[in-house]
Amino acid sequence: MTTRGSSADGLLLIGEAEDALKLLANGSRGERYLGGVKLCYLDPPYNTGERFEYYSDRKGSDDWLQALRANLTALRPLLSPEASVWLHLDDSEQHRARVVLDEVFGREAFVATVIWQKRLTRDNRTAFSSMHDYIHVYAPSGPKAWKKVRNGLADGGAFANPDNDPRGPWRSAPMTVQAGHATRSQFYTVITPAGTRHDPPEGRCWTFSAERLSQLDQEGRVYWPRGGHGKPRLKKYEFESAGLAPFTIWAAAEVGDTSSAKKALLRQFPGRPAFDTPKPISLLERIIEVATDPGDLVLDYYLGSGTTAVAAQILGRSWVGIERSRQTVETFAVPRLNSVLGQNRLAPCDIARVSQLPTQERATVRSAVG
Ligand SMILES: C[S@@+](CC[C@H](N)C(=O)[O-])C[C@H]1O[C@@H](n2cnc3c(N)ncnc32)[C@H](O)[C@@H]1O
Repeated sequence: MTTRGSSADGLLLIGEAEDALKLLANGSRGERYLGGVKLCYLDPPYNTGERFEYYSDRKGSDDWLQALRANLTALRPLLSPEASVWLHLDDSEQHRARVVLDEVFGREAFVATVIWQKRLTRDNRTAFSSMHDYIHVYAPSGPKAWKKVRNGLADGGAFANPDNDPRGPWRSAPMTVQAGHATRSQFYTVITPAGTRHDPPEGRCWTFSAERLSQLDQEGRVYWPRGGHGKPRLKKYEFESAGLAPFTIWAAAEVGDTSSAKKALLRQFPGRPAFDTPKPISLLERIIEVATDPGDLVLDYYLGSGTTAVAAQILGRSWVGIERSRQTVETFAVPRLNSVLGQNRLAPCDIARVSQLPTQERATVRSAVG
């Protein structure tokens, strides 16, 4: 694994999420964090009723929701105007959590729910074999404004430059649209450079007026297939490509599944009781690439084994990870981060304890967050 970030611009806080979030907002370096978080990915205990090796996942539903609400409320002042919050859950509480998200961020902040295919094997012990989780995406600025700042997915389509176009590689797209809302200027006969005449197909019209088509042609932006006899096509350049809108269903084949994430962790930490619920690094990479640009700040206050911080570090983003279990941080998150940091290993001031701290540890935290 390689890291694109040259050194850690990160902070690990050991403690209760709400305390740590308030500390970030109120510390003397608060201006770094207040309004500075571009992405908050949250993978809390789902309230499945299970007891895992490293944490308990059993709470009364009201208490669980109350904790979610308190933490999201403490998060709000840290979010940048362009931020998005991704809350990852299963069926235990996701429907009730949506109501809390609406309450804290406003209904109009809802962007989408991503369905992640978390397992590929069938579980015959249950009435239905659940193979997906939910990731609720909210953007306080609302989906329209957020779309302008989010990144599209890499466009796998082939671009080429057979005519040495100085604008670089391109591919072509048809130059017709449905005739429903067309104006009269979009209905005419095109005469190609080789002299062939074309009318728009039935029910369609040309995308542009004859004047605009001629202007685009003079600019070298029109491709005439079949040696100049074919219908005009618009050249779409690689540099203009805004990427693809992410689908709301993410397949395990694209972003990994629970079992592959767990196996990767077992390989890295052989002989140690496995962390039960790690998320795949590739899933977090997808989220971080959509929601942030290099240098942006990524926050996860249910850090667990450290996946979000590791993925952020690999992609050259700054990060803050908060986790209440010191054992989980020391056993998994710190070694995982150090493995992607190489020589720039985490220094003691990158790791601090927050909750119920003895006096000398409070001082450590202050030196870390100001
Ligand atoms: C589902 S795990 C997160 C797994 C993580 N995404 C990963 O890939 O390893 C949830 C984690 O949240 C931690 N946690 C639960 N409540 C917390 C709280 N109030 N403050 C901080 N951490 C908390 C648990 O100790 C657990 O490690």
